[in-house]
Amino acid sequence: MRQTQRSWTTGKPVTSPFAAPRGLSGRLAGRFMLLTNKQDELLDVLRVNAGDDVLEIGHGPGGLIRLLAEKTDADHIYGVDPSAEMVDAAGKLNAAAVAAGRVTLRIGAADDIGLPGESVDCAVSVNNVAIWPDLEAGIGEIHRVLRIGGRAVICWHGGHSAGRIARSLALPADHLDRIGSAIRDRFGAVTRDQLADLDVFTAIREN
Ligand SMILES: C[S@@+](CC[C@H](N)C(=O)[O-])C[C@H]1O[C@@H](n2cnc3c(N)ncnc32)[C@H](O)[C@@H]1O
Repeated sequence: MRQTQRSWTTGKPVTSPFAAPRGLSGRLAGRFMLLTNKQDELLDVLRVNAGDDVLEIGHGPGGLIRLLAEKTDADHIYGVDPSAEMVDAAGKLNAAAVAAGRVTLRIGAADDIGLPGESVDCAVSVNNVAIWPDLEAGIGEIHRVLRIGGRAVICWHGGHSAGRIARSLALPADHLDRIGSAIRDRFGAVTRDQLADLDVFTAIREN
């Protein structure tokens, strides 16, 4: 039985089918996310180089995993998500790349990625940082799995041209500041940007 997590932003149990996709409602939420969460813009921010190993945390239905597989020369693409339904959906969406051994998807979470230390060149989280149970533990785990020089990109709904959904889910300034501080505390520096529908935090592992 999966435990219900409490998000660090609200202190409340995470039960929405978008945040904790389970059963039929979770699978339907996954389909909706695949249609609505367009993530092409992120590829410019991720700056994946040929041969890089890339990790997505909380990949949901796997749209960004597909973009990474189709539009970059990443060597290996890892994905972790605590939802078995999402691991299954992303696996079906990326069946050829999984079968070819280029994409590996597993149950995992921001604070329990399950990869060895210093094993990826880029780690990205889209639209799940606000529902993690422990912000600092998640940031620390991302720092751990990144190689020196590796890039962490953490995004949440918002952005300079936020549509209705992104506007309704955008975080208040104090929560955005806390994400920035947690990343700066662990990585030493952080950059904040805005894409159309996303607020983006970027940091490089220096040591
Ligand atoms: C709103 S969906 C976003 C999915 C995808 N990244 C997107 O933007 O379309 C949130 C995802 O985060 C996952 N999730 C929930 N808790 C998490 C945690 N503690 N660590 C990592 N992912 C988590 C959920 O299972 C779900 O797939």
